[in-house]
Amino acid sequence: MKAKLEQLKNQALEEINNAADLKELQEIRIKYLSRKGELNTIRRGVKDLSPEERPIIGEIANKTAEEIENSLEQKHEILYKQNLSEKLESEKIDVTLPGDFIPYGKQHPLTLTINEIVSIFHMMGFSLIKEENSPEVETEYYNFDALNFPPDHPAKDMQDTFYTINASNLLLRSQTSNSQIRTMEKSAPPFRVISPGRVYRSEAVSSRKNNLFHQVEGFMVDEHVTFGDLKGVLNKFTEEFFGQVRPTRFRTSFFPFTEPSVEIDVQCIICAGKGCRTCSQSGWLEILGAGMIDPNVLRNVNIDPDKYSGFAFGMGVERLAMLKYAINDIRLFFNNDVRFLEQF
Ligand code: PHE
Repeated sequence: MKAKLEQLKNQALEEINNAADLKELQEIRIKYLSRKGELNTIRRGVKDLSPEERPIIGEIANKTAEEIENSLEQKHEILYKQNLSEKLESEKIDVTLPGDFIPYGKQHPLTLTINEIVSIFHMMGFSLIKEENSPEVETEYYNFDALNFPPDHPAKDMQDTFYTINASNLLLRSQTSNSQIRTMEKSAPPFRVISPGRVYRSEAVSSRKNNLFHQVEGFMVDEHVTFGDLKGVLNKFTEEFFGQVRPTRFRTSFFPFTEPSVEIDVQCIICAGKGCRTCSQSGWLEILGAGMIDPNVLRNVNIDPDKYSGFAFGMGVERLAMLKYAINDIRLFFNNDVRFLEQF
């Protein structure tokens, strides 16, 4: 029995010595030292020995257990440290390296521009009209007739306006001015509102023109609203939008729904009025159309033109963004090239 124990011990120590990892070491521990392990199997035979032999063999068995235990512990320590340093080596991070770049989205330049325009008018007490009063698919009545366009006006021509095939009087609106009629016919003055949105025109696409673009419409109607109010509001707008007081020029113009009508030019941003390619050598850039609301329009929405007056304006968002950010092709807004978009 003594020889058996000796053999068991040598075998165990050798296996421990050869153990490659902690898992294997645990298996060896179970094999030799667990309750059903090999050492206990031998120990169970001790009770069958003679009384003289029992304590001697018992002692040797205890010693064997102790030696195997010690050896397991030593090996455990070695393997544990080895395991740890391997882990540290493989998982080490260099905290001095720059972090991963996570790309994030940005607002489209047109969204930025619209938000800026809206916030300037907010500052002057204008609020947004309800979206339902500014539909993109519109009837001829709201896009033209109620705005005092005569029946034979050239803008109504198919060459300028997209009509739908659903109904002969249904079109894609060519201007946001439809929002004037829809807003005013539903409630009573005073009004001081703006309405941004998409408009459509059947035109040849070029660096300056696109079939789809954006406008911000605005109007103010109350008792005693004058052309002076129009000038004050729109001059303040250009000052805020372009970041400094810029000379403006109010040129007489014509719109069926305003009288008198003006187009407002701002001194060329690029050449400061000296004349360059952007302003076709004129020194001025047109930024919006405006005027005093025609009494006929007020009558069409049941507002008494003898009691109330007002002004309206409509500005092209792409145009304003192109001037502000020096963009030379309107199509850039619609191509969704990230190299362009990420600059804003
Ligand atoms: N609707 C006009 C256009 O699209 C602009 C405008 C709006 C002019 C309001 C006067 C008043 O050209």
